[in-house]
Amino acid sequence: MKSFETFLEGHLPVLDTVHPHFEKALAVMMQSGGKRFRPALLLGVVEAFQPLLVKSACHAALAVESLHTYSLIHDDLPAMDDANLRRGVETLHITYDEVTAILAGDALNTYAFELLSKAPFSAQTRIELVRSLATNGGVSGMIIGQAVDCHFENTPLTLEELKKLHINKTAKLIAASLEMGAIICGEDALARDLYDFGIDLGLLFQIQDDILDQTLSSDEAGKTTQNDDGKNSFVNLMGLSGSMQAADELAGRLHTKLKSFDERLQRSLTTLLENYLYRHKKDK
Ligand code: IPE
Ligand code: IPE
Ligand code: MG
Ligand code: MG
Ligand code: MG
Repeated sequence: MKSFETFLEGHLPVLDTVHPHFEKALAVMMQSGGKRFRPALLLGVVEAFQPLLVKSACHAALAVESLHTYSLIHDDLPAMDDANLRRGVETLHITYDEVTAILAGDALNTYAFELLSKAPFSAQTRIELVRSLATNGGVSGMIIGQAVDCHFENTPLTLEELKKLHINKTAKLIAASLEMGAIICGEDALARDLYDFGIDLGLLFQIQDDILDQTLSSDEAGKTTQNDDGKNSFVNLMGLSGSMQAADELAGRLHTKLKSFDERLQRSLTTLLENYLYRHKKDK
């Protein structure tokens, strides 16, 4: 992921403006680390099948990370989860103000599509990448998930409804990251398989996130935790041990599925995924 970080440093928006801090505000959340899970998935797929395209694929990986980072900036706003720590640093509305945080989010959202439109791929591939990111990160995915998450605060959903919420708000963008890797490689059948795998992986990722909200301090997580009171989280609906069990089952299924993938894909994704499949059990 070193090459991704280098690429990111060279591709943050540079602004010709009198605004004293907007460019810095945009960059700080992108640069403050984060797990880079989505770019790593996308680049892992490309590494497996078209290693020579990895550098070009960084445009798409950065697009996903940019849209994801926008979703975090907005998620932390007072009107949403009202959190003051993210990626180990103060959230933008605390350091600056809400206007800056809202607009920095808007900027990273649209910047994602600017990057895809200019990526060094055929027009057809670029359109497919835009479709995948817009569909999964937009109103049919992350946005409707966030809308339901916030609207139903203090109103319990059923387990089926909760799963759908988690799939929309988190899993679809994770599935899109894998799918976009396959699109870049021109592997259509693989794109479908990886998308389905990504939905389960993303559901697991959000169940784990719900568990970690309960079990980690804000310092340990680098973001505001113990912040899901009133939320439809797995922990609030199923309890901590029920959530751990659900995560274990899903992780087991994903592990088995991973072993059925093309060997090249297994080689490039196994180390990354083994780090994530059981992260709900990791010692702090
Ligand atoms: C946090 O995502 C929001 C969820 C969808 C759970 P990450 O846990 O990937 O956050 P970063 O990118 O590492 O900061
Ligand atoms: C947010 O889920 C998912 C997004 C689309 C940003 P959470 O609200 O649980 O994410 P964290 O715990 O604040 O990172
Ligand atoms: Mg939230
Ligand atoms: Mg949140
Ligand atoms: Mg959370």
